[in-house]
Amino acid sequence: MNNFPYDAVVFDLDGTLFDAEEGIVSSVIESVRGLGLEVPQNADLREVVGPPLRDSYRNLLNVPEELVEKAMDLYRVDFSARGMYLYSVYPHIRSILQMLRKGGTHVAVATSKPLWLALDILRHFGMEKLFDRIVGEVDGAAKLGKPELIRSALPDKYKSAAMVGDRKFDVEGALANGIDAVAVSYGCGSEEELQDAGATVIIPDTESLRAYLCPGAEIPRGFFLSVEGPDGSGKTTQVDLLEKSLRQYGFSVVRTREPGGCEISEDIRRIILDPENMEMCDECEALLYAASRAQHVHQVIRPAVERGELVLCDRFVDSSVAYQGGGRELGVDMIQQINAPAVGDMLPDATLYLAIDHKLALMRRLAASEPDRLELAAVEFHGRVQKAYERLIKENKKRFLVVDASRDIESIAQDALKAVLSKLLED
Ligand code: TYD
Repeated sequence: MNNFPYDAVVFDLDGTLFDAEEGIVSSVIESVRGLGLEVPQNADLREVVGPPLRDSYRNLLNVPEELVEKAMDLYRVDFSARGMYLYSVYPHIRSILQMLRKGGTHVAVATSKPLWLALDILRHFGMEKLFDRIVGEVDGAAKLGKPELIRSALPDKYKSAAMVGDRKFDVEGALANGIDAVAVSYGCGSEEELQDAGATVIIPDTESLRAYLCPGAEIPRGFFLSVEGPDGSGKTTQVDLLEKSLRQYGFSVVRTREPGGCEISEDIRRIILDPENMEMCDECEALLYAASRAQHVHQVIRPAVERGELVLCDRFVDSSVAYQGGGRELGVDMIQQINAPAVGDMLPDATLYLAIDHKLALMRRLAASEPDRLELAAVEFHGRVQKAYERLIKENKKRFLVVDASRDIESIAQDALKAVLSKLLED
């Protein structure tokens, strides 16, 4: 048994589950321009999110009555082709939905959007399976309106239910159904609007929403994702892009790197990579990597995963196996032994590998910046690194996500995101 306040929770979509502003506003601008008109300079475009769009065209954007339907058509086309992809899932929403469902709560969506569009958005963000019921307006049928949509989203039987939403329409709809109106002020509605409409409670952010809806429940374990590849595989660029996309999907990303990731480990990084330290022996190097890793796991990686966050780590122990074990020829066994106390049971849940031939990668890398100490090492060294990686991939097929990194940045980023999401959204 749990002490959740509700056994049925209905969510609004825009401004509650998703930050919809950028997507909607940009498609509205596009539609007004498509009519050959200009957006009035004094119009506060954030106002278009929430209320019926036709009213915004008439009252806020001064679109003549005879052009309103044309504007709606242009909007729909642009929004489903482009605008919806600018949405982002608010942080913690995924864990709230998971925790509610785990607690046996009926979880639903009630939106004034056309149902097909709501489904497209939820599917794109890999969220449709998190709901028991998804309710929206059906094209061609008479408009139901928010109170009726909420009613259809509720189960036949419940003890205590709530509608969670960011506008007065959500609050009014909840009250019309005799259920609690849990208003969130991080969306588009002001606190004043929500208060005046009679909200049962006003919640400022998604972390507080989680505490309110799921008191005392355990936050699901996070995820540990490492990214590997030879020097010059374009790893940093890809990690940047992946971080941005994963945040848009609602994951709380903790971006970190090895060697480094926290103060002590960054100090060790400087020693290892310092070109002055030419006399450093291979064993010293391997032990320093392991030492920096021990601190990093202890201070950053493990606590973040336990807090339910997604750790995105640029290199991890596989780099030591490949570079020190393979490249420096210390052997895989020795590297695994010295890393065992550093890593413990904190192996990555998935590892994205940017696959590129070491010679091509090195050429790219040398063209981009001054080579560091390791990069000055022989080409044979990088050949051995690549071989060691290939062996690791063979032996850990389930963990490694291999992406061809010899292509253009955009194609690599798309495939990398797809591969990572397939793991993250696994049931
Ligand atoms: P990094 O900063 O990731 O460089 P790049 O972006 O060019 O790949 O890594 C610095 C170097 O450290 C890189 O040459 C790989 C090496 N390295 C090891 O040899 N062993 C390790 O355990 C780690 C984490 C990195």
